Amino acid sequence: MKTTGNTIFISGGSAGIGLAIAKKMQAMGNKIIINGRNEERLQKALIELKDAVGIQGDLSVEADRLRIANELKTDYPDVNVIVNNAGTAFSYLLSETTNAHQKALVEMNTNYIAVIHFTELLLPHLLKKESSAVVNISSLAVYGSHKLVPTYGATKAALHSYTVALRMTYEGQNNLQVYEVYPPMVNTDFSAGIGGENGIPASEVAEELLIAFGQNKFDVPVGETKIYAEATEKAFANIARTRE
Ligand SMILES: NC(=O)c1ccc[n+]([C@@H]2O[C@H](COP(=O)([O-])OP(=O)(O)OC[C@H]3O[C@@H](n4cnc5c(N)ncnc54)[C@H](OP(=O)(O)O)[C@@H]3O)[C@@H](O)[C@H]2O)c1
Repeated sequence: MKTTGNTIFISGGSAGIGLAIAKKMQAMGNKIIINGRNEERLQKALIELKDAVGIQGDLSVEADRLRIANELKTDYPDVNVIVNNAGTAFSYLLSETTNAHQKALVEMNTNYIAVIHFTELLLPHLLKKESSAVVNISSLAVYGSHKLVPTYGATKAALHSYTVALRMTYEGQNNLQVYEVYPPMVNTDFSAGIGGENGIPASEVAEELLIAFGQNKFDVPVGETKIYAEATEKAFANIARTRE
């Protein structure tokens, strides 16, 4: 994927990892469109991102997804990269709640269902481009679970499964690339309360994505996640060898 000259839409680009990606990609000469639910937060981020534009909206809401996708296609037809970054997690203990199923529903809707729908809305547009990409932000949580975020990991594992299938579907069609970025603990608002202050800076995630674009490397483990990614790759390679 080229690292410059793209028009990139970043869901949840007004803070944290999304904002870091916006800054890094803008510095490389890409046009940036960011999104977030809170208009004030969005405007504040836009001050930092001179020449970027913002589209307010909640990606977990179907009507907002339809509106944002239409706005992109109509007002910003150059958009050729979407970064599905907006995500949510509840930090709680299973022993101290009676509505884990409702929390799981909210997490699954935002982190998985919304991504599938939004991608589906933009895919016909992206496929018409000479070069395009879908970037899904998953997590170290693809590889494990933790009692403090008991229903979050499954949503990212689901996102991972969808991302692999999407990539396989369009394999061989050179104009669409499907990336998955797996951040470990990152120091953002999202991870405050579960040890986020010990996490890596969001800029490191953005830097890894930029490198991956340059190398057409579609699986993008970041920091500690690399250990799990390498082990998984080795295990699958062993299975393949056994079958030969
Ligand atoms: N931080 C970590 O340790 C970590 C680790 C692995 C993966 N991740 C993943 O990385 C992604 C970004 O996390 P982050 O740490 O950067 O979070 P963050 O600092 O809390 O930022 C989240 C951003 O998304 C926006 N947002 C949240 N829900 C939204 C929605 N429904 N629709 C539109 N915008 C929404 C927020 O703005 P508004 O609140 O104004 O909407 C904000 O701009 C998430 O998918 C998360 O699961 C994070």
